[in-house]
Amino acid sequence: MSGILEAARATLRANDRGGYTVPTARLYPFQWNWDSAFAAMGFATFDTARAWREIERLLEGQWADGMIPHIVFHAPSDDYFPGPAVWGTIHTPPTSGITQPPVLATAVRRLYDAAHDRADAEARAAAIYPALLASHRWWRRARDPDGRGFVAILHPWESGMDNSPAWDGAMARVPTETSTPIARRDTGHVDHRMRPRGEDYLRYIHLVDCFHAAGWEPARMYAASPFCMADPATNAILLRAERDLLELARRFGSVAEQAEIAARIERLREGLGTLWNARAGLWCARDLIDDAPVGVGISAGLLGLWARAATPAQSAAVVATLGRWAGRVRFLVPSTDPDSPAFEPLRYWRGPVWGMMNWMIADGLDWAGEAALAARVRADTIAVIDGAGLCEYFDPTDGKGAGGTDFSWTAAIRLLLAG
Ligand code: DGY
Repeated sequence: MSGILEAARATLRANDRGGYTVPTARLYPFQWNWDSAFAAMGFATFDTARAWREIERLLEGQWADGMIPHIVFHAPSDDYFPGPAVWGTIHTPPTSGITQPPVLATAVRRLYDAAHDRADAEARAAAIYPALLASHRWWRRARDPDGRGFVAILHPWESGMDNSPAWDGAMARVPTETSTPIARRDTGHVDHRMRPRGEDYLRYIHLVDCFHAAGWEPARMYAASPFCMADPATNAILLRAERDLLELARRFGSVAEQAEIAARIERLREGLGTLWNARAGLWCARDLIDDAPVGVGISAGLLGLWARAATPAQSAAVVATLGRWAGRVRFLVPSTDPDSPAFEPLRYWRGPVWGMMNWMIADGLDWAGEAALAARVRADTIAVIDGAGLCEYFDPTDGKGAGGTDFSWTAAIRLLLAG
């Protein structure tokens, strides 16, 4: 096995805190929702039992209403802000009170399909299936109360793309007043130029305070939130996850549940379709407070192919968009359109390349019959990781690594790319 693959396995093992994986030591010392779904798929390449444990431990954080929180605080740590005391949610183990892109059902289906120990896979997946169903029902109920077809996020952290320029306009409306003192730890671990700005944090915490005041009750949060966005990534990932859940339901669910999931798929497919922006050649975010589309192109807007929701014309437009981006940077896929004035190649979600985004985009390109471009995206992903190490993200102009090091999902993606 090559050195980088050994390092990738070693990184997942080193980030293991007892059946769950931290994204990286210090910067993110707890279990994060979508990070864990990727970590599980990475573990599944060499340790299936450990992969299942990752998912089971994440589900220890699931709320009674079905929501799977974005952070599960299994064990205390002073390395992170905002910790459990700021969230003030009622759950054991302690959790945050918002969610993250629902990759989980996709990970479970993948583990289930690939597992050699069939009896074990049957038992584990059967136990997990109801939790996935409850989580997808929560998305529909809590995050599409108005029946728009797509689901909303109420905090940039729910997208996983904290400081994406797609949120700039909406975040400018979020007040900077907080009742919680800001005590950032992230900039003690990582160069501040690679992280969100101080003002961003005031608004992030304003939202947390607002939801805390709403008692973490979904309808009140939805009504009170000054930030309410349709994120093309969350919607595409949920649509893909619903398709994977439907496959699991054929084995573990009732006929009625299969029909229910199929109906949600149809509705979400139509909802995602309304986010398509023909001029930009990708799916765009939508601000649901002023009901206006957001023009800036982000890599999240390429995931309609991952969702199997693109028409041939849309796939062709996405290929053209990627071709244009490829003319501006050395490594695909920058998280922000490199022609946008908002593009910053090293600052968190404003430009860098992310391994797991690339992995999903490449999968979608293969589905669309664009094998050569899929291969290019995979080759670029391998090139930046093998060149710079298992970093959190990479500069698309020169491949330099940035953010945290020894990162779980980067390790997982490198293992998945090894076949
Ligand atoms: C952070 O703290 O940087 C995370 O993205 C929040 O989930």
